Amino acid sequence: PSARTFYAEVGGAPTFHALVAHFYAGVRTDPVLAPLYPQDDWDGAEERLRGFLEQYWGGPTTYSENRGHPRLRMRHAPFAIGAAERDAWLHHMRAAVDSLGLTPEQDATLWGYLTMAAHSMQNRPDGP
Ligand code: HEM
Repeated sequence: PSARTFYAEVGGAPTFHALVAHFYAGVRTDPVLAPLYPQDDWDGAEERLRGFLEQYWGGPTTYSENRGHPRLRMRHAPFAIGAAERDAWLHHMRAAVDSLGLTPEQDATLWGYLTMAAHSMQNRPDGP
């Protein structure tokens, strides 16, 4: 069994649930980020991010069954994401990853992806 997924290695569904719950608890109280999110559908937003991340790391493909191809750059186009929004997103995600107690190697794998993805989602130029 050489193909154990990263999803399974870090603990599967409970780990991703904890990651995304911790992240959104921070986002909901963030003055820069909170206004961007659907105020009447926080649970849905949490479910979409969790499903995407689980699928990305080799878990269930529920995300695409419900939402189709991720097309994340396109789906973020309606939201103005500059350096401030990107850094705030990464700040809450860093705290959420810290809460998981991953090994240094697992942490580096997950964090490397998240930082790369957050930079690629920026759709407004850096300020002066
Ligand atoms: C959706 C903001 C980065 C994955 C959203 C939504 C907002 C948002 C406001 C709509 C919430 C909803 O109704 O689902 C941001 C900001 C980012 C960022 C400010 C800063 C860089 C990322 C990154 C990822 C990601 C790095 C992936 C690693 C998703 C996913 C959805 C989503 C999967 C739901 C897409 C859908 O199916 O509609 N994001 N996002 N986001 N975001 Fe982000």
